[in-house]
Amino acid sequence: MKLSPTSLLWGAASLTQALSAADWQKQSIYQILTDRFARTDGSTSEQCAITSYCGGTYRGVINHLDYIQGMGFTAIWISPIVKNLEGDTPYGTAYHGYWAQDIYSLNDHFGSEQDLKDLSAALHSRGMYLMVDVVTNHMGYNGCGNCVNYGQLKPFDNSGYYHPFCEINYNDDNSVRTCWEGDNKVSLPDLRTEDSGIRNTFNEWIRDLVSKYSIDGMRIDSVKHVEKDFWPGFLQAAGIYGIGEVLDGNPAIYGDWQNYMKGLMNYPLFYWVQQTFSNPSATMDSLVNGINTLKGQADTTAMGVFIENHDQKRFPNINNDMTLAKNAIAFTLLSDGIPILYQGQEQHYAGGDTPNQREALWSSGYNTNAELYQLVKTLNQIRSHTLSARNNDSYYVKYQAMPIYSDTHVIAMRKGDVVGVFSNMGSNANTYTINLWGNKSGFGANQQIVQVLGGNCNVLQTDDLGGLNVNVGRDPVVLYPVSALQGSGLCGR
Ligand SMILES: *[C@@H]1O[C@H](CO)[C@@H](O)[C@H](O)[C@H]1NC(C)=O
Ligand SMILES: *[C@@H]1O[C@H](CO)[C@@H](O)[C@H](O)[C@H]1NC(C)=O
Repeated sequence: MKLSPTSLLWGAASLTQALSAADWQKQSIYQILTDRFARTDGSTSEQCAITSYCGGTYRGVINHLDYIQGMGFTAIWISPIVKNLEGDTPYGTAYHGYWAQDIYSLNDHFGSEQDLKDLSAALHSRGMYLMVDVVTNHMGYNGCGNCVNYGQLKPFDNSGYYHPFCEINYNDDNSVRTCWEGDNKVSLPDLRTEDSGIRNTFNEWIRDLVSKYSIDGMRIDSVKHVEKDFWPGFLQAAGIYGIGEVLDGNPAIYGDWQNYMKGLMNYPLFYWVQQTFSNPSATMDSLVNGINTLKGQADTTAMGVFIENHDQKRFPNINNDMTLAKNAIAFTLLSDGIPILYQGQEQHYAGGDTPNQREALWSSGYNTNAELYQLVKTLNQIRSHTLSARNNDSYYVKYQAMPIYSDTHVIAMRKGDVVGVFSNMGSNANTYTINLWGNKSGFGANQQIVQVLGGNCNVLQTDDLGGLNVNVGRDPVVLYPVSALQGSGLCGR
């Protein structure tokens, strides 16, 4: 096992740099597919063949941090950084980064070690943070499971490091852990992560990586495919927060998973929100029931919340109505947990299943006037203001959001002092008035409430019992007491 000089310094560095779990809960993350976000030369006319490397780099990201910070994001999640298999496969190149062949080298398509260090430094100098995608479940090989040349994989360079090849049966947990992702064209040799030697290698690897590049957080791939008891040691070695991918819509499994990894992607909520808001004939029932169920079983405030990523068809691919996209985005950015927006959402990109949802962002021209870019900016501004309100930056993040009103097509959610009202009827809906009860919204009697979103900053007034009439049905509405809005910059206050 190599011991790099940086690992000796790690203990000291982590004290000053690591962002705690509580600190991560205050962040808002923008997900970057490094190959597809921005090119070093800044060109926006370059075509991107969807299965090839398209030329995005760390330099490109550095040069476009204004675009991300301008939307109010405080952290970025970038693609896996390590060296991947080279050349073409039946599924294209490894532009996404999930087919590692050497965990000790960087993928030089994205830039040099210095470029990545510079990206980290550029983020930190803006008060922003770096989250890196990491994979420990598997390596990547261009070819079938039974014909892998293990000598190409570093440092796990012989078959003894891997489970014997088998195809995954997704209904069998043991198979999910020990069989191979991928297929007979591109196989993903499944590491024996239960072996202590492999665990030690990964623990040292992540400790060094975090230190070398001053990484603040991890997105962790294929978490469900690795034994649960691998994770506590890995997270401890990393010394930074991780948000893991357990790709499963079943809320019942999340409570136990959180005993091993607190931060998980909120896939159950993803499915409920996507299904509800993309379909004007759906009712709010499954969303309301789902939220109440999950809240009782898991700490939703520690999770990553999203409606799009690089593995799922985009929301507008299911329904391209702009009003529905606004409702779904507003719902997620004001939900419990750490909001994550996937590059292109702000430009209403509409790509379908993999790889079509991995469009190059530069074709948008980085339009900061785009309707959803502006919406996201306002939502992040609202969320960030809630953290300074009440002189208690834990109040909002710890408050588990709850449905306080629902009918067939409208749901109102309270999180702390903020009430959001969301609808799935779309742009042509007939609007109508609902009454939000004061004993649910937390609004006091005869209190002035601003429509910070979806009402041109109108000021409404509650009745003697705190009840509030609100017109709903199309765009999302966000309500905030006037008294709590001072100094926010929102609605000119
Ligand atoms: C801040 O809010 C958190 C979460 O509601 C609460 O536990 C804590 O006691 C509050 N702190 C203060 C100083 O009010
Ligand atoms: C909450 O307020 C509504 C309307 O003001 C009232 O009808 C209801 O009984 C109240 N519920 C509770 C539990 O006080």
